[in-house]
Amino acid sequence: MRLIYNKFELEQIISRIKEENKSIGFVPTMGAIHKGHLALASRAKTENDVCICSIFVNPTQFNNSEDLKKYPRTLKSDIELFTQIGVDFIFVPSESEMYPESKIEQINLDGLDKVMEGKFRPGHFNGVSVIVKKFFLLIKPDKAYFGEKDFQQLTIIKYLVKKLNIPVEIIPCATIREADGLAMSSRNQRLNAEERIQAPIIYKTLKEAKELTKNESIDNIKNIVKEKINSHSLLKLEYFEIVESDTLVPALKINEEKHYTACIAVFAGKIRLIDNIKIL
Ligand code: PAF
Repeated sequence: MRLIYNKFELEQIISRIKEENKSIGFVPTMGAIHKGHLALASRAKTENDVCICSIFVNPTQFNNSEDLKKYPRTLKSDIELFTQIGVDFIFVPSESEMYPESKIEQINLDGLDKVMEGKFRPGHFNGVSVIVKKFFLLIKPDKAYFGEKDFQQLTIIKYLVKKLNIPVEIIPCATIREADGLAMSSRNQRLNAEERIQAPIIYKTLKEAKELTKNESIDNIKNIVKEKINSHSLLKLEYFEIVESDTLVPALKINEEKHYTACIAVFAGKIRLIDNIKIL
């Protein structure tokens, strides 16, 4: 494993890999590495000649400065974990390396960034898109791996590369869960013992909501989900939506010929958790 700290060094390494006609699998992360990230990196390693991961807590995607300050930073153990599974290169840039410019680019995501997460975290997906675009242009990966837990992010990245003609294949990877169903997330380590006990209710409720789509209207399901989540003392629903999977347009009713995903954001104490389930 080799650590890369700056763009100049990275560009030289990428040129060499390209000259050797080797394929690159890329996994962008913000660190606090868990089994979900390791599954992405293992897959990137298996499916490509070279596996590159990045660790960068991207400030432009945080609309809340407290959240940015509290985001777990565990660089030493992150590097160890990636090294253990045989990642070839880890790109660990500084903020000034990634953002030498004074004005952040605004990318038009044609409304995909305005619903769900985008409604509650304005600017979040612009920040994600700007940094992922920068990484793609620098690293020139053949394939890039994203977890399905961040379903809206995944949809937006697929849209971004299509819109900007960036030649990379986006590989969606299934959400990795704890034994009790809680989706793995870097934020889970900030849950206290009581919050951790209640957090699996989120996925349990999503599974129940999926069942309910067979008989109940979407409005009824929304009310049931809200009541169920909020009946747990430490949980508070921020949103629950059933959306068309490609367009993220909220569904009014289920049409058997389309694909839908139910998405949820819940506060467990002060920790905001998201999850989703495919409906059709
Ligand atoms: O999913 C994440 O961890 C981040 O949004 C990403 C894709 C690494 C961009 O900073």
